[in-house]
Amino acid sequence: MSKQYIYIVQAMLEPAKCKIGVTNDLERRLKEYNNMTGKSKDNIYQYLFTCEVSDMKQVEDDIKDEFRRLREEKSREIYFYNSGLFEDYVKFIKSRKMFIKEIFIKTDIQKEVVKIVKREKPSLGERGLTKENVMKKARKVDNDEFYTRYEDVEKELEMYDSEIWKEKTVFCNCDDAVDTEDNRKTSAFSLYFMQNFKKLELKKLICTHFGSVVDLFNQGAKGYIFTKDGFSEFKDYPKGYTGSFDDPLSLKILNEEADIVCTNPPFSRMMDYWKIIIKSGKEFLIISNIANVVTSAYITYFKENKIWAGYNEIDWFLTPKMELTRAAGYWYTNFPIKDRPKYKQLKIIPLEDIPEKHKKYDDSKTLLVDNCYIPNDYEKIFAVSTRPILNGLLEKGYKIIQDKQYIPYINNKARFARILVQKI
Ligand SMILES: C[S@@+](CC[C@H](N)C(=O)[O-])C[C@H]1O[C@@H](n2cnc3c(N)ncnc32)[C@H](O)[C@@H]1O
Repeated sequence: MSKQYIYIVQAMLEPAKCKIGVTNDLERRLKEYNNMTGKSKDNIYQYLFTCEVSDMKQVEDDIKDEFRRLREEKSREIYFYNSGLFEDYVKFIKSRKMFIKEIFIKTDIQKEVVKIVKREKPSLGERGLTKENVMKKARKVDNDEFYTRYEDVEKELEMYDSEIWKEKTVFCNCDDAVDTEDNRKTSAFSLYFMQNFKKLELKKLICTHFGSVVDLFNQGAKGYIFTKDGFSEFKDYPKGYTGSFDDPLSLKILNEEADIVCTNPPFSRMMDYWKIIIKSGKEFLIISNIANVVTSAYITYFKENKIWAGYNEIDWFLTPKMELTRAAGYWYTNFPIKDRPKYKQLKIIPLEDIPEKHKKYDDSKTLLVDNCYIPNDYEKIFAVSTRPILNGLLEKGYKIIQDKQYIPYINNKARFARILVQKI
């Protein structure tokens, strides 16, 4: 029987795409690509990765399924490409049980080409702004337009007991557009709930599209509400509806219909978003900045036990151009976390056993501990960084004792922001 291969191939002049295909003859297939009529002679195809598998059709189907959001068109084998995605493709192929052996991998692909999409900025004179103002605003807009990857939604939501979803109405209220014709124009949150509607035994899914000039999902400038109620699915464009999470209609859905809110809200509106969601008293699973734990605007929520860390951190998002970009995100929730796996990263031991380099006193004689070391015999207030809180310190007999962040000074020099805690 002839051998079966999976390959990833790329044309030199099309670096943002690659093709993932199957063949029984790698050499012949590459020749076919390079003999294609109508192609520029310079646009040479080269393999980025090839491997032998026992069932190429099955692996190909698995790839289509896993990376459906990264396919350029449903019917073709073209996928979005960058070095981070390439690593994901290879890792996935190698994890299949049909994988036999790697034959070739292009090794000079730069690791982690992280591109932040820069928008054109108006001249400062035109806007009467300082350079700092403009840069700060531009960064905020960029961050607002980061997509959540499907796998990150799946990885977190599957950690929770499936009972939490049963007969519930889920509300995705931050530009979680739904395009029933094209998954790539559907947010990962909406897609996850659409695809798992039956399995989770959901009652209803309501997703809103934010009508703005920056149109992340190519859904037009008009806000809409998508509802899936059992088998019936419909889109509503109410007059004057903006799609904003604080639009009166969105607030009505939140307060009167939603049981669980789940989304990745815009970074620039985070404070308002948290205020509204927490005030609603609804259950939620949302993505926000990892540093919220040590940011004054949010500390009271953690202190009062209205929100806590979920299971996972998110380091990668997608830009509207489908390029991977780094941002420090974390899941936050008010659902119980069972046997938080990150407890084991906390090192709760007597103060004298904490290595010297991980404990010091600042200029006001407050103890600062690092690297998730926590003293279990220290009665006074001490300062920790973000990690111990995310790893569940407040569930281990410690409490936050101040509503704002703590900036330690050592020899009059300010250090990273922390949070003051104390053993209960
Ligand atoms: C970080 S992105 C996340 C998008 C999508 N929820 C996801 O997870 O892929 C935030 C989205 O919220 C949109 N947005 C900005 N202001 C909004 C508002 N007031 N209400 C709802 N969505 C808003 C942005 O345009 C952007 O599409």
